[in-house]
Amino acid sequence: MDRPALSHSTTFALPQLPYGYDELEPYVDGETMRIHHTRHHQAYTDNLNKALVELRKDSSCLEAFGKDVSLEMLLRQLARESHSSSPGSEEPSATPASSICAKHPDLAKKIRNYGGGYVNHIYYFENMSPGKLLLDTHSPVAKALEDQFGGIDDFKREFTQAALDVFGSGWAFLVWMPHDEKLAIVTTANQDVPEFAPGIAGSDAIVLFALDVWEHAYFARYYDMRKSYIESWWNVVNWSDVGNRFLKARSCSHDMKQKRQMEERQKQQGQCQQCGESPCNCPEPQQSQPQSQPQSQPQSQPQSQQQSQQQFSQQQQPQYPPQQRQ
Ligand SMILES: [Fe+2]
Repeated sequence: MDRPALSHSTTFALPQLPYGYDELEPYVDGETMRIHHTRHHQAYTDNLNKALVELRKDSSCLEAFGKDVSLEMLLRQLARESHSSSPGSEEPSATPASSICAKHPDLAKKIRNYGGGYVNHIYYFENMSPGKLLLDTHSPVAKALEDQFGGIDDFKREFTQAALDVFGSGWAFLVWMPHDEKLAIVTTANQDVPEFAPGIAGSDAIVLFALDVWEHAYFARYYDMRKSYIESWWNVVNWSDVGNRFLKARSCSHDMKQKRQMEERQKQQGQCQQCGESPCNCPEPQQSQPQSQPQSQPQSQPQSQQQSQQQFSQQQQPQYPPQQRQ
């Protein structure tokens, strides 16, 4: 599935599961899976679409990102704005033009909740499989888990404890931090994506797998025994999918590192980071338009900004929603 751009009249659809509702038995029961997918995930999808219809009424919100803005970019921006507005935060502030939180706080909250719910459930459902796709202990992701957590069992224990420590409803994620080039266990409340977690806004964290610890994911079979649910869930983790995501994420780190090194070289050599010339050969910036004219026409955005946003979208972001399986 191609990643849709939000600036167009995109309607998100509920992704089909690559397995039947009862195929994860006995670990995750069929009735829970059916309700979880057809009611909960469907509701997040429908409400996200409604929120985006509202958002598009203020065209300046999406135009500030460029025409290829994805849902993930929007959620990341909301996370940054959320952190920058926290008391005592040192996170970079959002630009006024893109500050959806400031202009439409209720809408920002809906997109944070429903958009997060939409993408998190895609990861959750895709990261499970009835096929016993066990972790290949010689695979790159297994090696990385061993190196960083001391062993696969140690990692599982740490992840399980983190998921148990989520107060109320929320999520546990294994993510790749592309700038640090390391794995991390992250938890969030409600339907927040990882970048809403304290300390990782702007990290471009890439999700490798996600565990839903809302009670709707397990109560019908496990009641309030979240630990039993998590211990069972390890039996249906699709490690093949996780391994593929890890390789893509690591490759993304490599591209980002090369880009940073190139920018650093250009900086040292006094070259412009946009045109690559020394001295800068960029065209003179246009004078700002009078107040009476529309403020955010797409063609008024500087080309360099459009390019950098497009590059960010195309090169540094994991795919949201993930590629559909064949
Ligand atoms: Fe859920």
